Order: sequence, then structure tokens, then C-alpha cells
Amino acid sequence: MLYHSLGNTGLTVSNISLGTMAFGRWIDEKESNRIIDTALDAGINVIDTANFYGKGQDEAFRYGTGASEEIIGRALKGRRDKIVLATKVGLPMGKGVNEQGLSKKHILQQAEESLRRLQTDYIDLYQVHRFDENTPLEETLEALTTLVRQGKVRYIGCSNFAAWQIEKSKKVSAIKSLASFISSQSQYNLLSREAEQELIPYCLSENVGLLVYSPLARGMLSGKYTSGADFPTGSRAASGEKLIFQYFNENNFERVTKYQKIAQRYEKKIAQFALSWILNQPAVTTAILGASKMQHVTDAVAVSDWKWDAELLTEVNGI
Ligand SMILES: NC(=O)c1ccc[n+]([C@@H]2O[C@H](COP(=O)([O-])OP(=O)(O)OC[C@H]3O[C@@H](n4cnc5c(N)ncnc54)[C@H](OP(=O)(O)O)[C@@H]3O)[C@@H](O)[C@H]2O)c1
Repeated sequence: MLYHSLGNTGLTVSNISLGTMAFGRWIDEKESNRIIDTALDAGINVIDTANFYGKGQDEAFRYGTGASEEIIGRALKGRRDKIVLATKVGLPMGKGVNEQGLSKKHILQQAEESLRRLQTDYIDLYQVHRFDENTPLEETLEALTTLVRQGKVRYIGCSNFAAWQIEKSKKVSAIKSLASFISSQSQYNLLSREAEQELIPYCLSENVGLLVYSPLARGMLSGKYTSGADFPTGSRAASGEKLIFQYFNENNFERVTKYQKIAQRYEKKIAQFALSWILNQPAVTTAILGASKMQHVTDAVAVSDWKWDAELLTEVNGI
């Protein structure tokens, strides 16, 4: 396992983090606990969750239930201080008009709820889940700063922000002497490289930590899906994940076949190959793996320190 500083801070994080979006949704508590134990035993020291994670992502449950945070809270008893615990706020937690977004009211309320569910008195990295165009940035940053000053939050980060939104936020923080985002959490993988246009050069230039989500394109880069075929039993697509379908097109199926061939040359699974590509990108601080089985963690950890040469990176860029 390799470790990096998160952005311009002294916080040290493993280059693979454990994503827990599916805990309490498709993955029950027993399996979630096994996955957490495997990850921590292997040296992963970051757990990423959100107040929203759990059944809130399914059509039958339109709001976050906090189920993922609750499972993590119970699992981390007695070992919480060794972990960099990251959670998020901003997505709907109820149908009320103030039960979502980045207002002072919602952030301060949800931080208390997250602390309760996580059974801790501090959050290491508190991330705003999405940009909220209805709330002034000053208000959001003031609420986050309050939490930092109260000792309830150690660092603040953003997720799904464009580079200009991070820069604008940092300017507001500097002018108003408020806490400032140290990291960005963004989608990045071999089938989705939009981040390379603005966000990644920005993070490199400003030393903003980059936590990559969906490094395996929600499972598309595991090679388990074939164009036109039924979804494998137990897979995320079979469980009702809709967002994975953004990756289902003929170009991507062809790319996956090509990546698979290269992976075989190196005697790696395609999931390992795709994850390792992410870990070899200089801007990436940590890749948040969405493991649904213990084996996924073991596969990932086995390639955490595989260094690629320029030739292989160029070959992949060609695809
Ligand atoms: N900030 C945001 O807006 C945002 C959005 C999305 C995610 N996230 C965070 O990022 C985390 C990861 O996202 P993600 O779940 O989309 O990530 P992902 O790593 O791209 O996809 C995870 C899926 O890939 C498959 N997989 C993983 N390792 C495998 C292996 N070795 N062999 C075969 N299949 C493998 C599994 O699919 P099956 O389960 O089908 O086997 C697993 O569920 C989330 O848990 C969450 O913490 C944040």
C-alpha cells in the first residue's frame, strides 16, 4: 500500500480508499463488516461515505437513510481513531425544502446526524456532495468553518465541483478567513476522462487532493458485462443500479475488450489493471474503490504499488 499527503495538508491517506455507497443498499451489514475488516487489515486507512448512502439511491426510497454511516459507526467501534473518516452532505435527506443542499441550517443539522450515526465526535473530511447554486458560497463555508472551530470536523472538501467552483470557493475562504477546501472528489476512470480537461490540471496546479470515485466505472471496467447479454447474477446492474448504464455503449464494450487483452499480458484482472491506471495518474491522491466482496479489496490491494512505464501509459492513451 502506498500513502500520500491529501492536498496541501499533513493528513496521510492510503492510495486506495474504501467506498461504502452500497452498504445498507445491496450489501448487508455482515458483508459490509467483512469488507471493512479486509480493507483495514490491508492498510487502507480511508473510508468514504455520505449521509445519503444506503437505500436513498433507489427509486422506492427517494431520500437518504443514513444506513451506510450507521453500519460504519458500528463497525469502527474501538478503532475509529486509526481511520480517516470521510462523509458528505448536500443530497436530499427528506422531502422538506430545507432537507437538502448546502444551507447553514442543513449543514449544521446534518453534521450532528452524521456524528450520531457514525458514533464519533469528529469527521476527518467533511465534503459537500454537489455544488448548490441556491446557497451563497459564503454561507456554506461559514457553516463548515463553524464545524471546524467546534472541533467536529478536521478538514473540508468538495465533490463534483468544476475547477472554477473550487477556485471561487477558495477565494471566498481567503477573503473571509474561512476554512478552505483541501480536496475534490470526482469521477475519473478509463472510460470517463473529462476530469483531465480542467479539474486535474487545476488540482495539480493548486495542490488540491483528488479522491477519485467510480475508478472501475461502477463495475463496467471489471469485464463482467457483455454487450447484449444478461447481467450476471449478483452484479450491480442486476441489482438495479441505473447509473452504470451511462457506460453501456459499443465503443466502451470494445475498449473494455482491448484493456482486457493488455491486462492479460501482465497477468492481471481487468479490474486490477483499470484501478492501477488510476493510481498511476499523478494528480490522484486516492482511488475510492466500491468493493462489494472481500475479493475486490484483495484484488485492489495487490496492485496498489504497481508502477507503470511510459510505454504502457501511451498504449492505453491510444485506446
Ligand atoms: N461523490 C460522489 O458523487 C460519488 C459518486 C459515486 C461514488 N462515490 C464514492 O465512490 C465509491 C466507489 O464508487 P463506485 O462503487 O461507483 O466504484 P467502482 O469501484 O467504479 O465500482 C465498484 C464495482 O466494481 C465492481 N468491482 C470492484 N472490484 C472488482 C473486482 N476486483 N472484480 C470484479 N468486479 C469488481 C463491483 O461490481 P459488482 O458489485 O457488480 O460486483 C463493485 O460494486 C462509492 O462507494 C462512494 O464512496 C462518490
